[in-house]
Amino acid sequence: MFLVSSREMLFKAQLGGYAVPAFNIHNLETVQVIVETAAEMRSPVILAGTPGTFSYAGTDYLVQICRQAAVKHKMPIALHLDHHESFSDIQAKVESGIKSAMIDGSHFEFEQNIELVRNVVQFCHKWDCSVEAELGRLSGQEDDLIVDEKNALYTDPDAAVEFINRTGIDSLAIAIGTAHGMYKEEPKLDFDRLGEIRCKTDIPLVLHGASGVPDEDVRRCIELGINKVNVATELKIAFSDAVKHYFIENPKANDPRHYIIPGKHAMKEIVQQKIRVCGSEGKL
Ligand code: 13P
Repeated sequence: MFLVSSREMLFKAQLGGYAVPAFNIHNLETVQVIVETAAEMRSPVILAGTPGTFSYAGTDYLVQICRQAAVKHKMPIALHLDHHESFSDIQAKVESGIKSAMIDGSHFEFEQNIELVRNVVQFCHKWDCSVEAELGRLSGQEDDLIVDEKNALYTDPDAAVEFINRTGIDSLAIAIGTAHGMYKEEPKLDFDRLGEIRCKTDIPLVLHGASGVPDEDVRRCIELGINKVNVATELKIAFSDAVKHYFIENPKANDPRHYIIPGKHAMKEIVQQKIRVCGSEGKL
C-alpha cells in the first residue's frame, strides 16, 4: 500500500453518504497519531500539508514518513497538497510521488482561476493525481494565507457548474460561511447554498475550516453533500495546550520523548471525534 489519490476515497464517500476527514500534518508525530487512529477505527484518511509544512519538514521526509505509515498500517493513504498556489511547486511534488493536490486559485478572477486549474488538472491527471480546487473564498488564516472577512466570498452555484465543467477537477472546495482558524462567534453556515450546489453538481464537495464548527453543523453539511472535511487548527491547539500543561506540571522537563506524549494523546482524541462526526469509521 502506498500513497494514493483521493479520487476513489471521495467517490466511495459520496456513494456512502459520509465524509473523509483531512487532517493537516506537520511532523512525524502528527502523521503517527492520525494514521494510527484512523487504522484503529478503520477510517479512510487524508493527510494534508500546506506549502509551509512541506518547506518546514521537507517534501522528501514527509513523503517517506507518510508512505511508511501506509505500509505499517496496511492502508491506503492520500498525502494531499493543501492550498498550493504554484503550478511548478505542484509539478515538483507530484513528480516526487504525491497523488492528491489542491490548486488554490480562489484569489484570482474566475477566468484566470479556470485557466490555472485547467493546466494543473491536465498535468496531474497524467500522473494519476486527483485535483481539488476552490471557488469562492474563505476568511481567516491558513499558514501564510490570510483573507479578511470583507474579502471572503461565498460560492455561486451556477458558477460552480461552469467551473467544474471547464476545468475537469475531481473535487470542489466551496465557501458557505466557514473560515480557517477558530471562530470569534458561532459560524452561520449557508446550508441552502450547499444544497443548491449539491443539486447542480456531481463531484465530491469539500468543507474547509472545520475547526470550531459545531458537530451538528458538520453532520448537516455531510447530509447535504460534503465528502471531505478539513481540520487543522483544533489539532494544533490540542497538541500545544497539552504540552504547555505538561510543562506547568513538570517545569524541569526537557526530554521531548516525555513532553510530546501528552500532546499526541490530546490530538488522538480530536482525530477520534472528527472521524465519528464524519461518519467514516469502519469505511476503510
Ligand atoms: P481549520 O484550521 O479551520 O480547521 O481549517 C483547516 C483547513 O481548511 C485546511 O485547508
